Amino acid sequence: MTVMPTLTLNDGNTIPQLGFGIWHVPPATTSDTVKSALGLGYRLVDGAFYYSNETEMGEGLRASGVSRDEVFLTSKIWNGDHGAEKARASVERSLKSIGVDTLDLVLIHWPVPSRFLYVETWQALVDMRQAGLTRSIGVSNFNADHLERIIAETGVVPALNQIEVNPTLQQPELRAANEKHGILTQSWTPLGNGRSFDAEPITAAAARAGKSPAQVILRWHLQLGNAVITRSENPARQAENLDVFDFALSDSEMAEIATLDLGLRTGPDPSVFRML
Ligand SMILES: NC(=O)c1ccc[n+]([C@@H]2O[C@H](COP(=O)([O-])OP(=O)(O)OC[C@H]3O[C@@H](n4cnc5c(N)ncnc54)[C@H](OP(=O)(O)O)[C@@H]3O)[C@@H](O)[C@H]2O)c1
Repeated sequence: MTVMPTLTLNDGNTIPQLGFGIWHVPPATTSDTVKSALGLGYRLVDGAFYYSNETEMGEGLRASGVSRDEVFLTSKIWNGDHGAEKARASVERSLKSIGVDTLDLVLIHWPVPSRFLYVETWQALVDMRQAGLTRSIGVSNFNADHLERIIAETGVVPALNQIEVNPTLQQPELRAANEKHGILTQSWTPLGNGRSFDAEPITAAAARAGKSPAQVILRWHLQLGNAVITRSENPARQAENLDVFDFALSDSEMAEIATLDLGLRTGPDPSVFRML
């Protein structure tokens, strides 16, 4: 069984560096998928109200036989639930759906700057942490200006910013902005829809290490110092994605992968995304 490395957040809590996401996993298969992932050694499940599978996320946790306190559970407040009252109701609903008393991390899923409720929502999260609904609080898809704003207006720095990072969208400036504030970067869609699986720096590093392109890319995230969440419904690929702690990329391999950055998103642009 993999011994999962942990990182320490700016609030003193620890987080598994590699986690398992359940976006796009159908409710009908989520419980089995989560059970399988936990059985293989994942110790972080990244959920969200928006994914419509939080009830099954909790079922999978209980079916796995892994005790609640060994698993780091994340949820997120969706765009339509910004604002103090709705945000609190959203987190209470997620707790009930998952069937736990407290979460390990709650994130604001997107800033939705056009609504400009993210500061109020952030203050609500600060209050929810105080009330014990979650141990840590953070944000997702926040740009540097959104981070500056919530920190200036509340005095509270998020523990983590979950953003899209993959070889074709490496986000060096935003990662540096996170680091400046002591905020951990957590990579979503780390495999970048496989767009760089065939790129020479990836295939060459994979051949040298005897690993797959996906394993090289996950290792690249880990060596950047990021936390990372990956997803597979296939138990063999779940295991493959965990098997990334017995090799290292050299400095020159890391530098070659850095050249693959095209600034190309797989997902929406957070500065304009406003789906409710
Ligand atoms: N905060 C946000 O706005 C946001 C946005 C997107 C995602 N997320 C979170 O981040 C998590 C990870 O992102 P993601 O779901 O896009 O994950 P990902 O790991 O980048 O990609 C998952 C896709 O890659 C395939 N895959 C997985 N392992 C593979 C391997 N070893 N070789 C080849 N293909 C492989 C999977 O197919 P199979 O299932 O067939 O293996 C699946 O189609 C999400 O599940 C979610 O929790 C957050």
